[in-house]
Amino acid sequence: MAKRTIVSMPGDGIGRVVLEETIKVLEAAGFVADYVEGDIGWEFWCKEGNPLPERTIKLLEEHKIGLFGAITSKPKDEAFAELAPELKDKNLVYSSPIVGLRQYFGLDICTRPCKSYIGNPLNFIRRGPNNTIEEPAVDVVIFRQNTEGLYGGVEWTNPPTQVHDALMTHPKFRQNFGATPKEEVSISTRIFTKKATGRILRAAFEHARSYGYKSVTVCEKPNVIRETSGMMYKMAQQIQKEEYPEIQLWNTNIDAQMMWLTKNPEDYGVIVAGNMFGDIVSDGFAGLIGGLGFACSAQSNPDSGVAVFEPTHGSAPKYADYKVSIVNPIAMIESACMMLDYIDEKNIAAKIRKSVAEVISEGKVRTYDMLKMTGRPDVVEKGAASTQEMAQAIIDKMNS
Ligand code: NAI
Ligand code: MG
Repeated sequence: MAKRTIVSMPGDGIGRVVLEETIKVLEAAGFVADYVEGDIGWEFWCKEGNPLPERTIKLLEEHKIGLFGAITSKPKDEAFAELAPELKDKNLVYSSPIVGLRQYFGLDICTRPCKSYIGNPLNFIRRGPNNTIEEPAVDVVIFRQNTEGLYGGVEWTNPPTQVHDALMTHPKFRQNFGATPKEEVSISTRIFTKKATGRILRAAFEHARSYGYKSVTVCEKPNVIRETSGMMYKMAQQIQKEEYPEIQLWNTNIDAQMMWLTKNPEDYGVIVAGNMFGDIVSDGFAGLIGGLGFACSAQSNPDSGVAVFEPTHGSAPKYADYKVSIVNPIAMIESACMMLDYIDEKNIAAKIRKSVAEVISEGKVRTYDMLKMTGRPDVVEKGAASTQEMAQAIIDKMNS
């Protein structure tokens, strides 16, 4: 097979260091690839007025597979203030390049696995019978619709007259909001389409089948949000019946799910939800397995094959300039393992995951978050592993 080319997009802040260390791990595991660097992030906003330059889009169009670190986003006014002087009169408005990537490539399938590692001191524990302590083994994969719903961007404050007039034809709007002046109304829409809903549901069922999960849970709120959540659940029932009869279909409400999260997280397998509820439920589960240092994700478009793999965390600017980097690279390394699965290098992914698991369970090398320290430059002197030491420990384990 031809050698692969991976588009590496380090972005800002700690994105750079975690991606650099991850590539070392990939190389040590025997993954043979070329890396081309894609410019993305704050630096390119400031210098060029575009945090997602066209040349980066071209690279992804050509090579399809991207590894992304993290970017920094800042509010509108700050973004404008940092723009190069010669660009200030060009009416440029900052928008997040990772959202831009999702939209441009239609990366509608977001996958966020949350699997606890044995021996991770950050694992969720709960009280069991007779005052015992239980540590449930969490192994959940969240499928989040990534392009529609409440994050679809269709929203207004003081909506245009046609929009307001159209809404006034809905009896509930007339009754509940009709007396409020238009200028005092803000609206964010939650649009679901059958096509995208079917795609995320099928991706979830397919994953359950391929990886042996016994259930798919639709986590929405169909009893209240009847149209969008209702459509998703109805479609799930039909898809399950006709295409995946061997997999159980469960239905939970997002609010109740957040409560059950800590009661019986080990009962869930694959969870599927719309954009916002998927975001919420995946952060909830990530908290049970160690938080941001462990939360990985994939965003893909199965039609075009374009896929971008990234940790859930951001650029953590407060740690970005430490002389010795202290952040945990595991979320990025795990994201790279998802990439390996996606491009059918499952053996290499398994090898890396095995080393990560061994390093964690041995407990000799732990980053500051795993030691429950407050992130400060002196954590390394106090016994925490640096980013590089953690990556090196994983590499050493692979070679041992
Ligand atoms: P963040 O995820 O960057 O950091 C929050 C806190 O989590 C950090 O202060 C640190 O204590 C901890 N943390 C994050 N990553 C860690 C790691 N690998 N190991 C150990 N601890 C870790 O989120 P925050 O502070 O809200 O945002 C910072 C910047 O990142 C903002 O500009 C924001 O817009 C951006 N951001 C970018 C994302 C992306 O690129 N996909 C996602 C989230 C935020
Ligand atoms: Mg989030």
